[in-house]
Amino acid sequence: MLSQQAQEALAQYQTGYSLPASLYNDASVFEADTESLFLSGWFYACHISEIQNVGDFVVLNIANESVIVVRVSEDSVQAHLNVCRHRGSRVCLESHGNSKNFACPYHGWAYGLDGKLLVSKEMPAEFDKSAHGLKAAAVEIVFSMVFVNLDSNAGSLSKNAKRIEPQLSQYGFEQTKVAYQETWTVEANWKLVLENFMECYHCAPAHPEYACSHSLKLPDRLSEKLYAPLQKRSQELGINGEPVYSGETDDPLLAVFHHRQPLLDGYVTGTEDGKPVAPLLGSFAGYDGGAADIQLGLFFYGVMYPDHIVLYSFLPVDAKSSKMHIVWLVRDTAEQGRDYDVDKLTWLWRVTTDADKTIILNNQLGVNSRFYEPGPYSEMEKFTQMFVDWYVDELRDNRR
Ligand code: FES
Ligand code: FE
Repeated sequence: MLSQQAQEALAQYQTGYSLPASLYNDASVFEADTESLFLSGWFYACHISEIQNVGDFVVLNIANESVIVVRVSEDSVQAHLNVCRHRGSRVCLESHGNSKNFACPYHGWAYGLDGKLLVSKEMPAEFDKSAHGLKAAAVEIVFSMVFVNLDSNAGSLSKNAKRIEPQLSQYGFEQTKVAYQETWTVEANWKLVLENFMECYHCAPAHPEYACSHSLKLPDRLSEKLYAPLQKRSQELGINGEPVYSGETDDPLLAVFHHRQPLLDGYVTGTEDGKPVAPLLGSFAGYDGGAADIQLGLFFYGVMYPDHIVLYSFLPVDAKSSKMHIVWLVRDTAEQGRDYDVDKLTWLWRVTTDADKTIILNNQLGVNSRFYEPGPYSEMEKFTQMFVDWYVDELRDNRR
């Protein structure tokens, strides 16, 4: 149930303007977001190479929920809700590791890797173990990335992802590995975090390091002349740069997006000096001066260069706290020190994410002010505006 204040804010919303403050800050809105979006959206859990051996697991926290993603057998990965079926304790307290089973630290009930209850001491004779396994979440592996959904009947992300398979398969995801990953916590509502990522209006003033190399910082009228030369170079190298965007017609919770942007003169990849930083990925035979922006579902994005991939996963924590988890992938045969330098590889998106953390926090502080009022979007914020329009419709539909 939305609070009175949130209902009023919802009624006040005007398309073309940012959201009224309580749609960011109100706890009842976060609760509604949890019900309608976090419990049915796909979230990135890990790269498949992180759970290669039977018993390897990672734990992912999404708002108030926690889910264990585990390799059960050579050909099966499952996801279980991290809530004991005895009296509800968290079962697994580590963020990742390898285990033969999951024993609850409270009274010692133990579950197999498949979530079935194996041990529950001193329970009555009629107690039915088979009815007390860990609850299941949905799990899908999409281009070697493991995604979970707390709704075990959620629509398939991997099915939608087939629409960008010709483009993404060029990167040879199955021959990639995690070179580095880091999580940034930002004390801001998840929508402020996503809205920031969906527009590059802020890139020129806030990200000089990114803006000097990526044409996305330019308005369309200035960047459009760069596309034909990129297309020509892509064709010469046999690179499929076909854009795909399903978000206008499909449910954004299942959206897929692929778009290649031209890098600016002197840059062939996303590095400080613009020079290659790691061995080419997949079937890439060279650098065409392009970089792909991708999206899988509402909470997952990526920037793909010919020699490395940067994955961006967003996680809500509470009404005024969120996490940005960034993962850098390189070819699995590449060796740190010999084929790539982790500091050089990660420099651009570390400085960019540090800056994003600051600007998003400042955005939240301004939204908290009694003097904040929703302001108008520019043309360069069209994806943010589309998201906000969709979000408000969603909230109106689900208002109880
Ligand atoms: Fe897990 Fe009691 S709550 S064993
Ligand atoms: Fe940014």
